[in-house]
Amino acid sequence: MARISIDPFETIPELLTRLRNPGLLLTCGKEGNPITIGWATLGVVWGKPIFTVLVRPSRYSFGLLRENGDFSVSVPAAGDKKMAKAVAWCGTNSGRDGDKYKGAGITKGDGIIIDTPYVAECPIHYECRRVNSNHVLDAEMDDEIRSRYYKEGDLHQVWWGEILGTWKTR
Ligand SMILES: Cc1cc2nc3c(=O)[nH]c(=O)nc-3n(C[C@H](O)[C@H](O)[C@H](O)COP(=O)(O)O)c2cc1C
Repeated sequence: MARISIDPFETIPELLTRLRNPGLLLTCGKEGNPITIGWATLGVVWGKPIFTVLVRPSRYSFGLLRENGDFSVSVPAAGDKKMAKAVAWCGTNSGRDGDKYKGAGITKGDGIIIDTPYVAECPIHYECRRVNSNHVLDAEMDDEIRSRYYKEGDLHQVWWGEILGTWKTR
């Protein structure tokens, strides 16, 4: 299905609703390994539209992002139960164990601007170029957040991606 270019901020309400349920699919590396994410922000930094995503070092996707920081974020359609299942699957299985597209029953779409694929069943996707990256800092962490999310360490790395393109199925 053809994709048209849209403004990156046009779909924020939809994006945030899906981020909370069922989650979004971050794809990274040349293989476009899909990882479910529930934490992300979208806004303006350095005068650019920026998508920030947080990935723990223990994820297979982490190594892919370190190799090549470009990434896509695919947004499932509202009420798409099949995709909600695929998102849950990608959030509990690792690309280390095989092709997640096959495992989740989803399709790889070729990136339009970047080399990283996206999830074709998702009606909206963002294509981003890494412009910065940093770890969340333990020394600066709120105690409640540390004890809730970082008992075992594995502190997230934050990737800041300039949004090069936002695409929607026609
Ligand atoms: C709803 C949901 C949200 C998640 N959000 C994140 C996230 O924001 N960052 C992260 O590193 N892992 C997150 N995870 C966990 C990863 O998706 C999970 O560990 C996945 O299996 C990693 O895949 P990979 O090893 O192929 O990279 C989330 C999982 C679920 C189910």
